[in-house]
Amino acid sequence: MKTQIGEKQRNQKGIVLWFTGLSGAGKTTIANELSRLLVANNNHCYILDGDNFRTGLSSDLSFEKKDRKENLRRAKFVASMFCDAGVIAVVTFISPFESDRKKARKLLQDRYIEIYVKVSFEVAEKRDPKGLYKKARRGEIKDFTGIDSPYEEPKSPEIILNTELQSAEQSASMVFTYLKKNSIIS
Ligand code: ADX
Repeated sequence: MKTQIGEKQRNQKGIVLWFTGLSGAGKTTIANELSRLLVANNNHCYILDGDNFRTGLSSDLSFEKKDRKENLRRAKFVASMFCDAGVIAVVTFISPFESDRKKARKLLQDRYIEIYVKVSFEVAEKRDPKGLYKKARRGEIKDFTGIDSPYEEPKSPEIILNTELQSAEQSASMVFTYLKKNSIIS
């Protein structure tokens, strides 16, 4: 007897929608919008968010490179467990390094869909929804992405969302349409 619920019972493929982009790019807002569309389409999804992760599972980690790598290693394995359960994992971490994103792709293979939430550094800093850019400029927090820690642009993401040109609703709808068009969801 099967003791766990998986793809068959949920009638959908377990996939990982891996959002990457600067703080303030709009990852979480788009993910929330997208999850509304998925739920309305009878899909099972779960948002794994960087800020949430860092208050719990990764509360022992800093923003130094080696800790970010560890954070993303954990995120990758947790996302893969959701996949096994037939759930759509919506992952929203800055994930600044190409090497970590590559490792996630290698583990998840065709279940990995990379979404680059693109915004210029200047606009992200202007938005500064959490006041963190200002804090970083004042030297109150260190290793801040874009200031004293790098962000490597994705080389070959499946989807690019330019949040300077389109709303969160439009971005979410683009991802949803991509999933439908490629028969990833029905
Ligand atoms: S990641 O680099 O390890 O992928 P993650 O997405 O978990 O980063 O965390 C980023 C969030 O932590 C940001 O959205 C921001 O709210 C907060 N944060 C706090 N300090 C920093 C920092 N030094 N650099 C980047 N984000 C920070």
